[in-house]
Amino acid sequence: ASDPGQMTSRMDVNTRKTKLGVAVVGSESSWRAANTESIKNAAGQDLNIDLIMQNAEGSQDKQIEIIRNFIKQKVDVIAFTPIVETGWDNVLAEAKAAGIPVILTDRKVKVEDDSLWTTFIGSDFVEEGRRAARWVVEHKPVAGETKIVELQGTAGSAPAIERRQGFDEVLSQNAGFRVIASEIGDFTTESGQQLMSKVLQQGTVPQVVFAHNDDMALGAIKAIEQAGLKPGKDVVVISVDATKLAFQAMLAGKLNMSVECNPLLGPQIIKAAKELATGKEIPVNIITAESIFSQETAKRDVSTRKY
Ligand code: AHR
Repeated sequence: ASDPGQMTSRMDVNTRKTKLGVAVVGSESSWRAANTESIKNAAGQDLNIDLIMQNAEGSQDKQIEIIRNFIKQKVDVIAFTPIVETGWDNVLAEAKAAGIPVILTDRKVKVEDDSLWTTFIGSDFVEEGRRAARWVVEHKPVAGETKIVELQGTAGSAPAIERRQGFDEVLSQNAGFRVIASEIGDFTTESGQQLMSKVLQQGTVPQVVFAHNDDMALGAIKAIEQAGLKPGKDVVVISVDATKLAFQAMLAGKLNMSVECNPLLGPQIIKAAKELATGKEIPVNIITAESIFSQETAKRDVSTRKY
């Protein structure tokens, strides 16, 4: 049965601006900067959106606090990128009890009750991991066993868990590949550099580095150079995101490939928020179409790259 209070506020939102609370996960990467800008720009171009955007600075506690504040402020819709997959049941139940629809942007959650969130807008991270592994299988750098170092993103985050899952899935179906180290970072350039330096100092030189995002790959590239090796040649480096910085590294021959993960979700988020605020049904999953980019096509593609 519909709640008469909710119906009034939904009818009311047709004649006023939609108040959208967005809890950004942090500022860890150039991908995140492009994602945040995309949401701000899309909201700025829409006169019917009143955007309240807060940055959780990489803290789940802070992100929960921000969401609770949005509930107190009685926003029409909440959109947030969960820093990690778990630990959201209570706050999402509070949003549901207040009648506020929740859009998960970019990252998914693992909760007991999936009716606690309304829609997900973002990428298929498992497929991104598979795409990275398929490229490695197709471009096997050595005849014998290929040793791989994996640099993971934030522990417990959907992109780190799912990219790893997709990568492992494809490698396990192909002989001659071994992940010799899988280090946990946080999607920053600094963590990529530190982890790669640590691996190289231990005397391990892999044939392939799979970084869970471009920023970590760029850090790894620095570490490889500091060790006197040539990234892109002595060590094949691949990553996810396909940002402009990755294209520059591909043009310089230091990054071999990047799987696309599109951060420009702003227009879809704003559209979904407005539809939800007026009580419209929208798809549960809105998945972005993506591809891969390599050194071979980087020169052609860099000019049209938007982030
Ligand atoms: O959740 C998406 C990931 O988070 C991007 O791949 C990464 O760059 C970001 O920080």
